[in-house]
Amino acid sequence: MAYSEKVMDHFANPRNVGEMPDADGIGEVGNPKCGDIMKMYIKVKDDTITDVSFKTFGCGAAIATSSMATELVKGKSITDALTLTNKAVMEALDGLPPVKVHCSVLAEQAIKAALSDYYKRQGIDPEPIVGTIPECEECSFEEG
Ligand code: FES
Repeated sequence: MAYSEKVMDHFANPRNVGEMPDADGIGEVGNPKCGDIMKMYIKVKDDTITDVSFKTFGCGAAIATSSMATELVKGKSITDALTLTNKAVMEALDGLPPVKVHCSVLAEQAIKAALSDYYKRQGIDPEPIVGTIPECEECSFEEG
């Protein structure tokens, strides 16, 4: 399966790229297997994600999924952002080849990690709200 036009578009013209110096939450996740790293920055006001940006050192699909994930949570309430799944990111991109599914998992994890960080900074335990960051079986270490 080749990449969809949407994936190619978000890879070639990623939205919301860059660091955010005054972020309210930063999440960094990595896939130990492929070595790719995704960093998400969020700005929150009145429980709404008013701004979001990312920096991804990774494959084209990781860049496209980060870009799409930022578009999907921007302007949304935290509650809505927490329901974002890698599947929704993939659907919004018109699909990903099976070997690239784990890249979208990284995008979901990165958003959740940024929200966890946001809660931690407020002195709130994120675990009951954000839950544990989902692991992707394909991405976990093969040896220990
Ligand atoms: Fe690692 Fe895409 S190959 S995130």
